[in-house]
Amino acid sequence: MLSVEQTRVQLSKNTEASKKSQFGQFLTPEKTAIFMASLFPDANGNCHLLDAGAGIGSLSDAFLERWHSGGFHFQKVALDAFEIDDTLHMHLQKTFERHQCWAKLSAVIRGDDFIHAAAEAISGSFFAAKMPQYTHAILNPPYKKINSNSAHRFALRSVGIETVNLYSAFVALAVALAAPRGQIVAIIPRSFCNGPYYRPFRDFILERTAIRHIHLFASRNKAFKDDEVLQENVIIRLERGGQQGPVTITTSTDDSFADLAMYEHPFERIVFPDNPERFIHIPTTTAKTTIELSPAVHYSLTDLGIKVSTGPIVDFRLKEQLRDMPEEGTAPLIYPGHMSNAGAIWPMPGLKKPNAIVCNDETEKWLFPNGFYCVVRRFSSKEEKRRVVANVVDPAIFGNHAVLGFENHMNLFHNNRHGLPELLARGLAVFLNTTAVDESFRRFNGHTQVNATDLKQMKYPSLDVLIELGKWAKQHSEITQKMMDDQFGKLTA
Ligand SMILES: C[S@@+](CC[C@H](N)C(=O)[O-])C[C@H]1O[C@@H](n2cnc3c(N)ncnc32)[C@H](O)[C@@H]1O
Repeated sequence: MLSVEQTRVQLSKNTEASKKSQFGQFLTPEKTAIFMASLFPDANGNCHLLDAGAGIGSLSDAFLERWHSGGFHFQKVALDAFEIDDTLHMHLQKTFERHQCWAKLSAVIRGDDFIHAAAEAISGSFFAAKMPQYTHAILNPPYKKINSNSAHRFALRSVGIETVNLYSAFVALAVALAAPRGQIVAIIPRSFCNGPYYRPFRDFILERTAIRHIHLFASRNKAFKDDEVLQENVIIRLERGGQQGPVTITTSTDDSFADLAMYEHPFERIVFPDNPERFIHIPTTTAKTTIELSPAVHYSLTDLGIKVSTGPIVDFRLKEQLRDMPEEGTAPLIYPGHMSNAGAIWPMPGLKKPNAIVCNDETEKWLFPNGFYCVVRRFSSKEEKRRVVANVVDPAIFGNHAVLGFENHMNLFHNNRHGLPELLARGLAVFLNTTAVDESFRRFNGHTQVNATDLKQMKYPSLDVLIELGKWAKQHSEITQKMMDDQFGKLTA
């Protein structure tokens, strides 16, 4: 008989990519499952275990294995495994049979949709099958966007859960179903830690649980390497109704856990008390970042009177208004491709993007007066050294054009929809391009996308310091990373 791990390897080789993505079917490798099971504190009494989106049962298997080998002191375990894909039930059954020789285990496989079953049970629907309060939940949920008008979205909304992805829905439901002090361990993408879409989910878990532990895989494709999943993944342990205390952070390069490092951080370093967005930071060393250590960097954009927005021009929605090259009655349309460290080049005939947008009643509201702006790409490539890449838009490049269009792949800093003073725009770009900003940014943003909300919640130096940085930048035609870092250090020391 194949082991659970052998079955997983075989299945992940033989399952078509389309099916993997339809069901979000990326099965957990054995070592990761064992690590996840090891994160629960030892406990006794009766365990009600939830494995939602159980696949072939790799996670339950690791949990039960730990119990048999004395790592848990339960009298009994009652396990509910939800798996919607009934072709996996046979494997799931086999996994549980390995443990069923123990009369103390009762395992039930449920083939219904976990979101509907859980939402109905939580809402107390008369027809719903009852669900226990789970003392433990171990999850590797499916990852897939939930459409705004889908049945899943309505079911979740009916129990007060507003979220955009199946993975956060599964975790929120597991939290809702958990017993007081119930422990939830889940492996999920890091995307919930920041960004506006996951704000209600962050609120949901932060209001109901204490974060006890976060594990970060340092390399973004290592957790599910057999399935070529390119995500930064974390493993998180939450305690329902727990009093929030320090959080254990562990890191490892990959799922061999060979270089496991462990730190403990006060909660204030994970969710900053003055951050209304409640971003979840994952510091990987106890050392504070240069930004945290620098008392000179403590201004919000509101303090500085600066706004940051996503470029408002979504090109595929305005196709008819776009022109390859400028012509009478058009305004420059700026894409990240127009920008470089040496300044902007516009128009750029070989860009494969339109260079201009027609000025008319429909487009007027999206256009900004020509002026100095600081812009930051929303998507950097993985190869790029820095996540935050800032450039200055100089009005001289655009000649006599009165207005400019900013395309949606960039964020722009502006003064209430007008340009910024030149030195401020230049100073902001230098600050944003420093290693210090990059380092602090990586603590809360695990992907290559930079949202306006990310930039909004960061702390900045004073206007005076930014303007000094701008003056300095204007005096140098070529600026290296080291020069920027040194100058920033000098001005904020
Ligand atoms: C990422 S896989 C993980 C499987 C398993 N927990 C593991 O760690 O190996 C998620 C599983 O959830 C199942 N699934 C997807 N949507 C589901 C739903 N709405 N209800 C129950 N199971 C679901 C998929 O078929 C898939 O097997």
